[in-house]
Amino acid sequence: MIFWAFPAIVIILLIVHYKINSKVPDGLKNIHTITFFDIFLGIITKQVGHDKLYTNFKKYFEKDGVVKRHQFGRWIFMITDPVIAKNILLQTDVYPKVKMEEFLPNSSFAEYLGTNVAFSSGDVWKRHRRVCNPAFKTLPLHLFSETALKMMDILETIDKTPIEIKSLMQRFTLDVLGKVAFGFDFNNLDNPDNVYVKAYNDVQKIIMDPISILFRTERIPVIRQQNLKKVDKLSNLFKEIIKEKHKALAAGKSRGDLLELMLNANENQDNQMLSDTELRHNMAVFMLAGHDTTSNALSTLLYVLSTHKDVQENAREEVLRVLGDNLIPSTEQHKSLKYLNMVIYENLRMYPPASTLIFRELTEDLKFKDFVIPAGSLLELFIYGIHHSSKLWDKPEEFLPERFEKENANSENYSWLAFGGGSRMCLGNNFSLIEQRMVLCLLLRKYEISLAPNSIHKDGLKLKFQAVSHPIELIFKRRD
Ligand code: HEM
Repeated sequence: MIFWAFPAIVIILLIVHYKINSKVPDGLKNIHTITFFDIFLGIITKQVGHDKLYTNFKKYFEKDGVVKRHQFGRWIFMITDPVIAKNILLQTDVYPKVKMEEFLPNSSFAEYLGTNVAFSSGDVWKRHRRVCNPAFKTLPLHLFSETALKMMDILETIDKTPIEIKSLMQRFTLDVLGKVAFGFDFNNLDNPDNVYVKAYNDVQKIIMDPISILFRTERIPVIRQQNLKKVDKLSNLFKEIIKEKHKALAAGKSRGDLLELMLNANENQDNQMLSDTELRHNMAVFMLAGHDTTSNALSTLLYVLSTHKDVQENAREEVLRVLGDNLIPSTEQHKSLKYLNMVIYENLRMYPPASTLIFRELTEDLKFKDFVIPAGSLLELFIYGIHHSSKLWDKPEEFLPERFEKENANSENYSWLAFGGGSRMCLGNNFSLIEQRMVLCLLLRKYEISLAPNSIHKDGLKLKFQAVSHPIELIFKRRD
C-alpha cells in the first residue's frame, strides 16, 4: 500500500501542475492538443515512434498543418504545413533557434554543447558557420574509405549468420566521424568497450534521455553533479585533441580532417573567429548531429534493401556497372550513382533520422488559416509528418525510389526536408551521403542481404522516436 502511495502522490501533483499551467489561451483552442499524458503514456508503453505520433494525430496534421503540446512550461507547435515550413527555413530572423542556455539552463546539454553552429542564431551563427563551411567543402575521402574497409574485414569473418546491424553501424559511423571530423580514432569497430567509446556513450545517454528531458531530473543536484562529471571527461578529451592538433599544425603535419581545416579557416580571417572553447563545442555538435543520424540512416537503408529485393538488385547492378573493378567510388563515380542516390533519398523520406527540427522561437505573432500563434511560442517542424503526408506524396507509405527520378523533385515545394533547408541546411549532408554510398558500394558488391527469419521487424520497422527501437538482424550471404 505504502509502496504505491508515493508514485500516486507524484502523479496527482503532476496532473494538478499540468492542469494549472497548461490552460489553453482562447485564440489557440481550435488547434488540437497532444496532452502530456499522451506523451507520458507513449514513453511507458514504448509506443513513442514518430510513425505512431503521426498516425495517431494524422487527422489534425493533414487538416490544420499544426498540433500543439504543453511542455517545459510553454506551448510548442508541431508544424507540418509546407508553407509555414518554408517560412521557418527561409526567414531565420523571424524564426531564430531557441537559445539552449536559456531553454535548458545549467543542464549537461548546455554545458557540453555551449555555443555552436547548430544552436546559435544571427551574427553568432554567421561567425561559426564562416569557419565551419570551408571545412565541409573538401572532405577527405581516404579517411572514410579506410574505416569502411576495416568494417568489411569484420564482416568477412561472418557468413550466413545474422548480424545485428544497428550496433555495427553505430560503431562504424562513430569511427568515421572521429577520424574525419578531428583525426581521432575511437576504435569502436575493434574494441567497443574502450574508455573513449564509454566516455562518448555515457554523455549521449545523458543528453538524449527522454525521461530526464521531460521531467528535468537534472534539477536534482546529485544527478546534475554525476552527469557533469561524465561531460567533463569527454570535454577534456576534446580539449586534448585540439591542443595536439595545434601542435601538429605548427610542426607542419596534416591529415586533412575537419578540425584542421577549421583551424586553418580560423587563421585566415583577420581576427581569430572561434576560440578553442567554441571549436570544442562545435566538435561536440558534429558528434550530436552526425553520428546517430547517419548510423540510423544506414540501418534503415540496409533494412529496406533486405525487404525490397528488386531495389537491392537494381542498386547492385548500378554499383557494378559504374565502379567496374573499383571497390571505393571516386569523386566522379559518386555523381554517377543515380539510382543509389534515389534509394538513399527515399530511405531518408520514409525514415528521416532528424524527424523534428530544433525548436524555433517566434519573434512575432504568426497568423495562418484561422490561427494566431503568439510571439514567444516554440515551433517544431515535424519532418516525419511532412514526409508522410498524403497531401504532398503519392502513396507515402510505399518505398518507391523512382519518385526521385527528377532531380530536386520535391525540395522546391518543401516536402523533402531530411537535411532541413535554407541557410540553416545541414552542414554534413555530403559527409553523410558519401558515407552511405561508400558502405552500400562495398556491401552490395560482396553480399546478398536479407532479413533474418522471425525478425521483430518482418511486418515493418518498429520505431522509437525517430530511431529503430529494436535490433535489426540481417543475413549477409557472400555472392559467388
Ligand atoms: C543522415 C544524416 C544527417 C541528417 C538526416 C541530418 C539532418 C540535419 C538537419 C535536418 C539539420 C537542420 C536542423 C535545423 O534546422 O534545426 C541539420 C543541421 C546540421 N547538421 Fe546534419 N544531418 C546529418 C548528418 C550530419 C553530419 C554527418 C554532420 C557533421 C559531421 C552534420 C552536421 C550538422 C550541423 C553542424 C548542422 C547545423 C547547421 C546550421 O545550423 O548552420 N549533420 N542536419
